[in-house]
Amino acid sequence: MNIQMVDLKRQYAKIKSEVDEAIADVISSTQFIGGKHVGEFECECAGYLGVKYAASCANGTDALQIALMALGIGKDDEVITTPFTFVATTEMIALVGAKPVYVDIDEKSFNIDAKKIREKITPRTKAILPVHLYGNPAAMDEICSIAKEHKLFVIEDSAQAFGAEYLSREIIPKKNEGKILDKDNYQSNNEHTQKDISRDGWKKVCSFGDVACISFFPSKNLGCYGDGGMITTNDQSIFNKVKMIANHGSKERYIHETLGVNSRLDALQAAILRVKLKYIDEWNKSRIDNAGLYTKVLKNIPGVITPSFEDYSKHVFHQYTLRVPKRDELQNFLKEKNIPSMIYYPIPLHKQPAFRGFAGEGTLPITEKFSKEVISLPMHPELLDDEIEYITNSIKEFYS
Ligand SMILES: Cc1ncc(COP(=O)(O)O)c(C=O)c1O
Repeated sequence: MNIQMVDLKRQYAKIKSEVDEAIADVISSTQFIGGKHVGEFECECAGYLGVKYAASCANGTDALQIALMALGIGKDDEVITTPFTFVATTEMIALVGAKPVYVDIDEKSFNIDAKKIREKITPRTKAILPVHLYGNPAAMDEICSIAKEHKLFVIEDSAQAFGAEYLSREIIPKKNEGKILDKDNYQSNNEHTQKDISRDGWKKVCSFGDVACISFFPSKNLGCYGDGGMITTNDQSIFNKVKMIANHGSKERYIHETLGVNSRLDALQAAILRVKLKYIDEWNKSRIDNAGLYTKVLKNIPGVITPSFEDYSKHVFHQYTLRVPKRDELQNFLKEKNIPSMIYYPIPLHKQPAFRGFAGEGTLPITEKFSKEVISLPMHPELLDDEIEYITNSIKEFYS
């Protein structure tokens, strides 16, 4: 068996002719910067996510920087965020001169614990920056209502959650309450067409905050063949600022109104992403199916904690992440069986040398505990049932 964490070769084999045609189209047009595919992809992406505006950029890290700059966040400002994420989230807050203020994570979702946000708000707080970690939406109802109450911006880091959905709790269908993750009922509870979304209140992540940031890094649920990113918003004035900042602070050629950066999605990547966007729902469904297969077996192993899901959110399993005892031993055992796994993230951000000043050790106990327990298993739409069986049997064997 040749199991990969992410298998982009298998995926490419399925869409090769369409992708090759899209690449050839860009090359023959010689329109490598901007142009038809970039503009069309921005429109298609906004349409898919249910937002008014989408501005592409070079990667998800730039998307965060540009979003923070567009909201005027900088020196002496504080941004409330999670310490349990990829470094870019914190890095960009610090890079624009603001201070990341960490709130510990929720035990079930691994996302920022909304119940603990209020106690961290000060007169300097300008924004809340939740991350939809592993593809699982953060508690957007609570976060947006706290932000509204305190007049704060909400910036969604949706890098890992393209296509994930969230439903306001007041309108959860009562019949679904209390169910646990299981392939059969999970799927039926979370299949929503675009029509269903507008009818019953389900919305895609990216459509909750003032602004949202996306990464198209190759391994993401919607990934390109290089780097790419997107900033979305429903606010025209934020969109105009984002466009200007991403283009050297310029609306009109050679007139630079503000400090900006050079951050562009190139046309080849946009053309590839247009092909892949057509498959995203199918691929996310496969991820959910695969998560269901994993959970069916792993939930029965004492000590192993499988990912939780809530009735008010659709987790799209960018990662399938367990909490386990003897984590490092398990990882070595799996390695001997040619099963890859990853630790996202072994060192919380407040313990990283670059960001130690922002929170003391021991101040974020759940994050610190979880960083020693988490392990992510292979997860991608092309994962085969017998590969999942081999992985789950190996984990059973380790704990038997
Ligand atoms: C949560 C999160 N935010 C931001 C980023 C940055 O995205 P990029 O690698 O496209 O710069 C990533 C990428 O892994 C991420 O996982």
